[in-house]
Parts: sequence; C-alpha cells; structure tokens
Amino acid sequence: MPKSDFQTQAARRTARALLAWYQRHARDLPWRHTSDPYAIWVAEVMLQQTQVATVVSYWRRWMSELPDVASLAAAPMDRILRLWEGLGYYRRARHLHEAAAHILAHHRGRFPKQFEDILALPGVGRYTAGAISSIAFDQPSPVLDGNVIRVLARFCGIAGDPRRSATNQTLWGISAALVSAAHAMGEHCGALNQSLMELGATTCTARNAACSLCPVRRACVARRENRVESLPALPKRARPTQVREVAFVLQRQGRVLMRRRPKAGINAGLWEFPTSPLPHGATATAAARAQFGAQAHITPLMVVRHSITTRRISLIGVRVEAPRGLSAAPLLRGGRWCGPEVLAALPLARAHRRLAQGLSATRS
Ligand code: ADE
Repeated sequence: MPKSDFQTQAARRTARALLAWYQRHARDLPWRHTSDPYAIWVAEVMLQQTQVATVVSYWRRWMSELPDVASLAAAPMDRILRLWEGLGYYRRARHLHEAAAHILAHHRGRFPKQFEDILALPGVGRYTAGAISSIAFDQPSPVLDGNVIRVLARFCGIAGDPRRSATNQTLWGISAALVSAAHAMGEHCGALNQSLMELGATTCTARNAACSLCPVRRACVARRENRVESLPALPKRARPTQVREVAFVLQRQGRVLMRRRPKAGINAGLWEFPTSPLPHGATATAAARAQFGAQAHITPLMVVRHSITTRRISLIGVRVEAPRGLSAAPLLRGGRWCGPEVLAALPLARAHRRLAQGLSATRS
C-alpha cells in the first residue's frame, strides 16, 4: 500500500491500537525508564545488531561505568572495547567514542536535540536517529529496522524486496504516517515507534507469527490474504562457509602471548592469541609443529565454534610451551606476554576469551 493510500484515519486507528497494546504488553526494559538521550543512544546502538536479552546486562554495566557523554569521551579505547566485549561489531563502540568527542566539540557536551544533529553523529543512521529523537525528545521521526519492516510489510501487504529503494521508501512513508498520527493525537512518538519494534520482536516474528495476539490483525493484509509466511520478501541469505583456524596459546612462566588485531576489519583493535588458517585436512598439532619445531611441547586445548557474518569458524586452541628463541617467529611479532590480570583487563575477541577461560579452568 503506497503512503498516499495509507489514509490519515487508517493511520490513526492503527496507531491507537498499537499504542494501547504497547501500554499493556511492552517488556520492562531498563532503558525504557529514562528519557536521557545518552542512555537511549547507547541502548539503540547496542540493539542495532544484538538481541534485547543480551543487551540488558551490557547496557547496565556500561551505564554504571560510563554514565554520560563526558565519561565516554574521556575513557581509553581499551576500556570501552572491554565493556563492549562479546557484543561483536566493534565499530559500533568506536563510533560511540568518536561521537562523544563530537558532542563535546560541537554541542558543549549536551546531547543534540535536532534530528539532523543526531543523524550527523558517527555511527548514527536514519533508524537510530529516529529512535533517539522519538524516544528521548518525543519528535515524530519514523523508524525502520528489520522488525519494523516485517510488521509494516505484512500489515500493508507489501510484496517488493524491502532493501530496494522504492519499497524501502514506501515502508519509511508508512512508518512516518503512523508516528505522525500518534503525534497529532498527542501521544508519545517514542511509544509508537517502540510498539512497532516490540510487535516485530515478540509477536509478528519471522517464524510462527502469533497473529491471534496481534492488536492490528483485523486490518492486516498479509493475514487476510494468507501471506504472512511469505512477507517480507527478503532475498535469500548467502550460504555460510566453514572455516578452521588454529590458535597458539604460547605459555612462558605463567604468561601467555597475545597479539593486537589491526585497527580496521573484523574485531578491529581487539587482542587475541596468535592464529593461523588451518588448511583442509591439516591438524592443529601438526600446524603447531610446523610453526614452532619438533622440540616444542604441544598439547591440544579445546575447540571454540563461533560465527562472524557468514563464516562458521572452528577455532582450535593448542597450548605450546614456548621454546627458547621463539620470539623471533614472525607469527608472534608485536606480541605481548600477559599474566592473568592483564589478560582479564584486555579486550579480547569473544572466541579468544573462551579459550582464555578454558585455559584458566585447566590451570586451576
Ligand atoms: N530494538 C531496537 N530498539 C529497541 C527498543 N528501544 N526496545 C526494544 N527493542 C529494540
């Protein structure tokens, strides 16, 4: 249904039903108890690629350690990355840091209120700007993320690929019509936007949509036409690829050798055990022998399975008691020998934290 067809009356009726439902069924999430734009911004950035259930404890810890823009701007990057560790997509944490500096420089440390100023912050796109501006400042700015796309594509029976420009614009238009309707009725814009997010997260889910619990089921085109399962029409996901890597846990006098990842790319700036790709058919122990020689004392440790975008990675940890002369090995250049306290404080890639935890479990 193009925006022009989504008439004011229909938008108002829909907004009313969504708001009433949200008031009764909204989950009690900690960032919903505040109108502090900083707190809402941090939550929205964490929620960009991470599930609510995971975000709650991270958000609480972040807010108690870095409660405002000034504390974030002043924090060293390693501390910020340590607070972010496990959430993935670490660029988000870097952007938060950069944005805090931007707010100090351009807005005297006060979180900006104007939509365009929010949108200008590093790491903030149209969705996040809309969420902050509506939730913290009650402005009628629409939102459109994966959950909202699903709700609106089904409700209005929109069959196009939502990532394509024309369909995407139509969906933004419908979202805008709903938040404007809420605003015109004197209702809270943030509540309307969050009702769409909430409905998509809890009820109008990708699989097994609970249509009988939906507040707008009677007007839902997909439900009427039996198309709930086929909307939104998303392109097929790329097939995952299987990857094996070996991680060398080099030990010397109670310390382990860690390396820092480059500033750009996956897990940028995080620390990890030195790793190497493991060709098909090769064993991790043989790879360690090839790297450190026949004299090295090598023990298999554990396998950590994890995913990064479409890569399904098996990270195979082997312990190598570091023979003399090892520091010359090219794989280890730029490494740092770390005792348990340093290891606990450094930001590690998630799979490597699991290896480190496995290591301390085998030690004790
Ligand atoms: N996902 C993105 N933003 C959200 C919010 N404010 N509440 C719940 N889920 C969300």
